[in-house]
Amino acid sequence: MRSVAVTNAKGGVGKSTTAINMAAALVELDCRVLLVDADPSGNAALGYFPRGAPAVGLADALLEGSGLADVAVATEYPGLDVVPPGDRLGNCSDQMGGVQGLGQGREFRVRRLMKGLTGYDVVIFDTSPVLTPLNVAILYAVGEILIPIDPCVAALAGVRALEELVKTVGDFRMEFTDAGDLAITGVLITRVDRTLVSKQIEAEVRSYFGPIVHDLVVPASVKFREAYARGMPLIHYDRLGPAATAYRAAAQAFLEGRGGSAAATEAPTAPDLDDAEAPDLTWREAS
Ligand SMILES: Nc1ncnc2c1ncn2[C@@H]1O[C@H](COP(=O)(O)OP(=O)(O)OP(=O)(O)O)[C@@H](O)[C@H]1O
Ligand SMILES: [Mg+2]
Repeated sequence: MRSVAVTNAKGGVGKSTTAINMAAALVELDCRVLLVDADPSGNAALGYFPRGAPAVGLADALLEGSGLADVAVATEYPGLDVVPPGDRLGNCSDQMGGVQGLGQGREFRVRRLMKGLTGYDVVIFDTSPVLTPLNVAILYAVGEILIPIDPCVAALAGVRALEELVKTVGDFRMEFTDAGDLAITGVLITRVDRTLVSKQIEAEVRSYFGPIVHDLVVPASVKFREAYARGMPLIHYDRLGPAATAYRAAAQAFLEGRGGSAAATEAPTAPDLDDAEAPDLTWREAS
């Protein structure tokens, strides 16, 4: 089972949209996908349940210790289930400890939830743009990271902070677990327009990240809003448009274990999950 966090410390760069459309594109490629909405705002879940996501979700799994499968909801697309954030996620993701928060061993809470999870080929986490203990816990749980980047001024600034965090978490994982390194395996440039700034920053991102940047960019399009309002992934709403093509190509590349096109890399395996009680050191270091 592959697991990927769609993340970027910057808000509004297309994380939820990417999580929604990567999930849909992977299902088209015959994967069984679980989309976990780990942002209290619930934008990824609302992309599939426009009339409102169920009140019970990830928060309840974290707080009550139930399994992810218990709070997963089937969508109208066979092979695609969604874990909504749950109404209590805002509280429990921000708090560092105590009965309401993630509590002791919080770095490993999400890993523990994934331990018993079967029946999916890919688990995709949509994350909030805020650095919370929950987002750190997700970085302990997943095998890889996909970063959507909106090519606006300062696009790389937030990404560098994220890289630092990924390295810190990766080092602790290596030290305290026999999990492999945590890798950024893909960078997807989204909301691209025809401006010079967009072109310049795309070039900067490509030169900084190299071959893990997906070849096709996702253009800016009003169709995203229309699709979202209808509770449909864009790849189904505008099947043949360039944005759908870019998301399908990104899903195909993900499955083949490569970010963009040039360098084929081995797909990382999920980390070992036998260390849920490892010492609680990382959050201090990472914050
Ligand atoms: N390629 C695109 N073209 C035009 N609009 C887009 C595109 N991708 C996303 N959007 C729109 O931009 C807004 C922000 O996108 P999205 O919610 O995916 O970003 P996010 O990074 O998840 O934001 P947040 O940090 O608030 O969670 C949404 O209204 C979405 O429909
Ligand atoms: Mg979002």
